[in-house]
Amino acid sequence: MSDSLNRRELFARAARGGAGAVLGGMALSGCAAGRSTRPAQTNLRHNPLKKVRIGFVGVGGMGSAHVRNLLKIEGAEIRAVCDIVKTKVERVQDWCVKAGRPRPEGYWRGEYDFKRLCEREDLDLVYTATPWRWHVPVCLAALEAGKHAVTEVPAATTLADCWKLVEASERTGLYCIMMENCCYDRFEMMTLNLVRKGLLGELLHGEGGYLHDLRALKFSKRGEGLWRLAHSIRRNADLYPTHGLGPVAWCMDINRGNKFDYLVSVATKSRGLNIMAARKFGPGSPRARRKYALGDIITTTIETARGETIVITHETDCPRPYSRNFLVQGTKGLARKYPDPKVYIEGRSPHDQWEDGEKYIREFDHPVWKTLEKRTRGAAGHGGMDYIEDYRLIQALLEGGQPDLDVYDAAAWSAVTELSERSIAGGSVPVKFPDFTRGAWKQKRPLGVDLVKA
Ligand SMILES: NC(=O)c1ccc[n+]([C@@H]2O[C@H](COP(=O)([O-])OP(=O)(O)OC[C@H]3O[C@@H](n4cnc5c(N)ncnc54)[C@H](O)[C@@H]3O)[C@@H](O)[C@H]2O)c1
Repeated sequence: MSDSLNRRELFARAARGGAGAVLGGMALSGCAAGRSTRPAQTNLRHNPLKKVRIGFVGVGGMGSAHVRNLLKIEGAEIRAVCDIVKTKVERVQDWCVKAGRPRPEGYWRGEYDFKRLCEREDLDLVYTATPWRWHVPVCLAALEAGKHAVTEVPAATTLADCWKLVEASERTGLYCIMMENCCYDRFEMMTLNLVRKGLLGELLHGEGGYLHDLRALKFSKRGEGLWRLAHSIRRNADLYPTHGLGPVAWCMDINRGNKFDYLVSVATKSRGLNIMAARKFGPGSPRARRKYALGDIITTTIETARGETIVITHETDCPRPYSRNFLVQGTKGLARKYPDPKVYIEGRSPHDQWEDGEKYIREFDHPVWKTLEKRTRGAAGHGGMDYIEDYRLIQALLEGGQPDLDVYDAAAWSAVTELSERSIAGGSVPVKFPDFTRGAWKQKRPLGVDLVKA
């Protein structure tokens, strides 16, 4: 096939897949030009708060872990709690009383009751750990009611919703933060420290992902089983990009002197859910016979404006041990976390041999971990990283400092879902990232965690 035919086919595929405008082989995301006419608020700060008064929406698995952490953080007060399941609200109310705190007011009158919670006058912040489809409605209701909005990952699942969060945060002048706990895991933060100290040299490449066998969970009738499968039925995309992307984005200064430029995604066929459903419900059952849109393995390559590459994997329907595939490679060496944490630095490590990552943690532990490790002991969730993310959020609000993450991170990292979907639908066409900062990404600025001294 000639080049021109290849290009013609590329255009046709992109058009068939609804990949938006295609220029010179590059599909432009529909929102590439941006919508907001305000300058980006990359340096947004608020006055210190005496205490942080919180309304919590969605107290299932992850919401409960955050609540238990917040109850241990001085200055955080849970004033209101909302869930569609009354007993879950009552459980959290009881925890608060048991912890010697006032009983928060409960909201359980249906799926939109969070709106009443957002209207309360005694809240500074609304925190949501609901299923994905509720993140944006809850954040928008919070911002419009004059509260900072904090959401679990991903912040949004469409580009239009990413823009809505950016616009609402800019219009109201309030924070809209996506809580990406994996940025705070100890090996990832140690790697960030190696990067900042120049030990890995100039960065070239990163990897990450979400590789977690969720087949049983997707067919269960509890917790995420109630809502997660619906996304696998409808969408062929990286549905959960931020765990893999967040720590690499921090190392590569995304939105702080660098940006994601474009991506290309490929998808395998879909098999795992049909195999699991056949095993669980019988080969003739509707769940075994139906078509699932989600490919078992979605692989996305991102090119940054500075010329680094990032490979992100989404794999939730195959038998395998958990991994986030974290890896950062520079001109002097690399760190990788799975299956065992390892580091190799030229001139420092024995030639051609990995060194034990734990040894590096002892020597290059990030100041955030050095100062907070003791507090994480006994905390709920994922080996301490969840407590650290909650603690850092509350501390920033109490001190009037800038939180570690902002709405531009939330939008750029979450955008991968729809961008990967467009790339796959168009036959793996390259797709441009929208610039949610409208040029402000060029400004070099440190992360909040970079400013912590041990
Ligand atoms: N960062 C992490 O490591 C991590 C881990 C697990 C889940 N999560 C994220 O946390 C969120 C919740 O996941 P989960 O595992 O806790 O799920 P879950 O299903 O256990 O909890 C969701 C809760 O939200 C409630 N809910 C549903 N609709 C609601 C509404 N309209 N208003 C109020 N409450 C509502 C449900 O009743 C449930 O209690 C998801 O976004 C998920 O991606 C993040």
